[in-house]
Parts: sequence; C-alpha cells; structure tokens
Amino acid sequence: MWKNGELFPSVPMPEVSGRPLIVCHPAADLNYINSWSIMVENSQPFILFCDEYSPKYPDDLPFIEDSLRHEYFARIANPLIGGRAYRNPELGYQNMLVHRQKDAAEGMLDLPQVDILYLDWLDPFASGQTQASFSEVMPKLARNVRDGGLIILDRKHADVIPSWFTYSNVLLSTSNDTCIEHIGRGEWLFPSIDLPYTRDVVAEIFRVKNTTKQTGVNDFLASLMMERRLKPEELEKINNKLPPRWPNHPDRDSWMERYMEYLDSPEMGEPYLPCPPHSSWTINEYSTWLQFLIKNSEQLRPIQRDERILDLGIKVTLVRGNITDHLDWLLWNDASLITRGRLMDKILPICCWLQFKAVNLQPKWEWPSISKLIWSGLESTPNLTLKLLELSKGPVAATIVHGAATIEQLKEQLANYDGDVEHLIIFHKDESDYAF
Ligand SMILES: C[S@@+](CC[C@H](N)C(=O)[O-])C[C@H]1O[C@@H](n2cnc3c(N)ncnc32)[C@H](O)[C@@H]1O
Repeated sequence: MWKNGELFPSVPMPEVSGRPLIVCHPAADLNYINSWSIMVENSQPFILFCDEYSPKYPDDLPFIEDSLRHEYFARIANPLIGGRAYRNPELGYQNMLVHRQKDAAEGMLDLPQVDILYLDWLDPFASGQTQASFSEVMPKLARNVRDGGLIILDRKHADVIPSWFTYSNVLLSTSNDTCIEHIGRGEWLFPSIDLPYTRDVVAEIFRVKNTTKQTGVNDFLASLMMERRLKPEELEKINNKLPPRWPNHPDRDSWMERYMEYLDSPEMGEPYLPCPPHSSWTINEYSTWLQFLIKNSEQLRPIQRDERILDLGIKVTLVRGNITDHLDWLLWNDASLITRGRLMDKILPICCWLQFKAVNLQPKWEWPSISKLIWSGLESTPNLTLKLLELSKGPVAATIVHGAATIEQLKEQLANYDGDVEHLIIFHKDESDYAF
C-alpha cells in the first residue's frame, strides 16, 4: 500500500476473532470476483455479501470455472434472508459468497455494520438525480461500517467518474458519528485466484471511526447458515456428515462417469459443466467448524420450538408455529414432509433438500395419492392421519394440523397403526388445536 509516496507491505485489513470478517460489495456485477480474490489473499475467514439488481450467480450457465475447468464456487443452502450462497472447499478456512437480487441501498439495512465495505459503483447510494459525489455518499455509507473497519474504493471507474475520487484525507459526518480517514492507496497486482474476470486492483483505502457499536453479528450469521440455527446437541449428531450437494448439480461421481463416456466416445463432447469438488466442505474442516460452534454455543441462534411430545404408540410431536420456520429442524430429522401442493410449493424453495422425501398430496401432473381428499373439519377424509403415515418415505413423518385436530382422534387412529413410521410431527398454529 502507498501512503505519501511511501510503500507499506500490505493493506492493514481489520481483524476479528471467533467469526468470519463480514465484507459487503454492493452492485458488484462480476467484479465480486476481484473483491473475493482480495479476501482470499488476506487468508482469513470471511463472508462476501453482494446485493445486485442483476446478480451474476456462479452457478448460472455457464458455471464460473477455473482454467482447469474445475468448479470454484460450490453451492450451499440458501440464506434465510434470500439469495444464493456458495463456498470454496479448497481454501481451508471459513468462506462464503452470498448473492441476492436486491436494491443495494435497501439490502444494506439487513446487514450489521460490516468489517469491510468494498465499493466500485456509488450510484445506488446517491440521493438525487445528479452523479453521486464522494462527500455526499461516503459519510452515509460509513455508518454501515464498524469502528476500525475499512472502505475499499476500487479505482475501476476513476477515469470516467472522477467525482467519486475527490476525497479529503479526513471526512467527518455532519452529525459527528462517523469519520473516514484516507490511509493510502492499495494495490493488488496479481489476482490470487485462477478465475476469469480477475484483474489488477488499485483502490483508495479509508479507515472508519464509528461511535455506534457493532451489534447483531451472530443473528446475521445465523440468518446465513443453517448450522448456526441448530442446538449444540443437534450439531453433535451431524458432526460426521457432510452437507449434501446442491440438487441438480452433478456430483463428482456422476461427472466422472460422464467424463469417462466422453473419453470412450469423444464425439459426444466434454461434460458441459465443470468438474465439481467432492463436497462443499472437507470433512475435517466441517467437523472442526461444528466443534467450534458447539464450544462457542453463545454464537448459535437455535429456532425455538413450542412443542409437546406424546407417546401414542409412536412418538408424536405437536409443534405450535409455522412449519416454514422449522425447516432446518425437519431436514436435520430427515423427515418425510407430507403436505398439500400449495404449502409444498412454499416450503421447497426455502429448503430444497426436503424434496427427496417429500410427498405432495396434490401433484400437478399425477393422480392424487389420497382421492377425494378433504383436509380438515368434521367432513375430513376418514382416517386421514393413517393415510398420511402410509405415504411417508421414512420413519419420521411431518405434516400440519388436519382432521378434527384433536388428540382423541389421533389416539384413536394410531391405536391401530402398525406401519414403519416411528415419529409423527404435526405443526399447528391455533392454541385450540390438539388441546388437552
Ligand atoms: C456499471 S455496472 C458496475 C458493475 C461493477 N460494480 C463494476 O464496477 O464492474 C453497475 C451495476 O450496478 C447494478 N446496480 C445499479 N443500481 C443498483 C442498485 N440500486 N442496487 C443494486 N444494483 C444496482 C447494475 O445492475 C449493474 O450491474
């Protein structure tokens, strides 16, 4: 980094302990590859968060791949706050890329104060019709950066929009709550990753002083990662189990099979998609991370369940609440989800892996599995609970309130049950449902 004609060995990146750095790059388009590359060079755990009107998701076609045609960003579970998430399993430390299709200024409201704000396009933050200027935009943006954090202002558009770069060495916000100090010009002259769209980056570096304390970091992290929404004892149970591959992205084995076919018959062409990693994590890194979360459980934000557990021949858990708030837990339970079509259509986009054991009672193109289904009330389909259990694709079945919504009716039906389901989970919203 250069400051007053003097060369310093590196840009003094903010440091944090026990959590990843939170980096935000709004309106990034494809330039997130360069902010990502800079964070990789820093070799510390990080999350890069990008809100864009038109996100360039790495798994849209064509997939982003390195020069050896390897997939670089493996897709992982969607964040609860929307968008898509990815990670690179080779880096050896926590990393995550999040893309949301969202107005960048609005999206900033969902974030805690970040550790690093990477900027290359200031228009989303201008208030009027005119081109944004540094002194108008930066004091406002600095409120989103924690005390001691950095703003990295990429000079990519400096020749075209010089007003973004007319900075003073120190700039104080009008209400004196934030101050930005120019600490030098950073240069990253060799991209640290082998990906397309990388380039040398030259950027102005500013340190932020902020009188407002950074809060809400663990809540934010929990909104991004399912593991942070589980209880320590639940994490223990998945400690040796890698998260599954994103559905419809070929896994390594099926890719290799296709590649072998191509070697035998080159006329069929190479596999269209890049060679995937074995998993989005290595088992060592994943289980070390889970152990860290178990030990530092104050960082976890488990979703509370208002539940009653009954023994009615099989275990029955009655959960008061919206089923869509508890999908992580259903996945953790490896539950077979049994619902009508409209609810299923809401659930699967939130937690796509539930599809593998899901039973849609109202499929669009097939015969319904329960004919003349009447879900609730006195006229509801007779023995509906038993009919639902028959359809379950595993020993744990999950559904919502149905039939007469009484414990008596459940007891009556389950007394005759001799199938394979061991645990039935029923969600209900009303207090009067399944009342004692
Ligand atoms: C000229 S491109 C710059 C892309 C990239 N930052 C770069 O410097 O290479 C502007 C980008 O900003 C995005 N954009 C503009 N206004 C936005 C807003 N309010 N919220 C989110 N994205 C926005 C556009 O979709 C577009 O991709």
